[in-house]
Amino acid sequence: MKNIVSCGTVKEGELLDQNYWNEKWLNQKIGWDIGFVSPAIASYFKKIADKNIRILIPGCGNAYEAEFLLEEGFTDISIIDISPKACDILNKKFKNNKEIKIFSEDFFQHEGNYDFIIEQTFFCAIPTINRNQYAKKTAELLAENGKIIGLLFNRNFEQKGPPFGGSSAEYQFIFKKYFEIIKMEESVKSISERQGMELFINLQKLT
Ligand SMILES: C[S@@+](CC[C@H](N)C(=O)[O-])C[C@H]1O[C@@H](n2cnc3c(N)ncnc32)[C@H](O)[C@@H]1O
Repeated sequence: MKNIVSCGTVKEGELLDQNYWNEKWLNQKIGWDIGFVSPAIASYFKKIADKNIRILIPGCGNAYEAEFLLEEGFTDISIIDISPKACDILNKKFKNNKEIKIFSEDFFQHEGNYDFIIEQTFFCAIPTINRNQYAKKTAELLAENGKIIGLLFNRNFEQKGPPFGGSSAEYQFIFKKYFEIIKMEESVKSISERQGMELFINLQKLT
């Protein structure tokens, strides 16, 4: 079975920078890729009637969420990946979809204003030291009452390198400075390989 969690071990002194991620994409070492939109995320967005909300998907990889949102009729979807190779794939895949804007850049440098940010195995890919920065940046990118919707790992990992795990208590400590924690609970719609290992999150930007 494909390992649907691993991003790889980090060697001494190695940075999780554009080169690191682009190498993964060039060699197709994308063990995190589940091949379709996470059911928990799909289920949440299926219930949203306003199809013109502005949605951002950072660290999007193959961006299955964007494909799903397109099928559901959403019209304003932005996706970011730091890997040029991943963005080549995305540019081909979405070449006829004006509803999708592709940003080949570092999420932490991105500028914009969104109603929703989707979190699907991006937070776990960034070094734990940058987690506070992620919370701050997502809050900056969200409009008033904007939300992060998605999944976080509810476990730790043995290998040295991404994915980096954690617990609800750790995440609440990081996010509560910028967000109201509307929901952070065990996901009941995780894929079987991640059953019991994920938290579904619904975080609303503090006013
Ligand atoms: C673990 S993968 C997850 C990909 C996708 N979300 C999925 O679940 O299949 C992390 C992705 O984030 C991208 N990435 C890592 N650091 C980034 C950054 N600072 N800004 C934007 N993308 C980044 C990587 O290239 C990679 O595609």
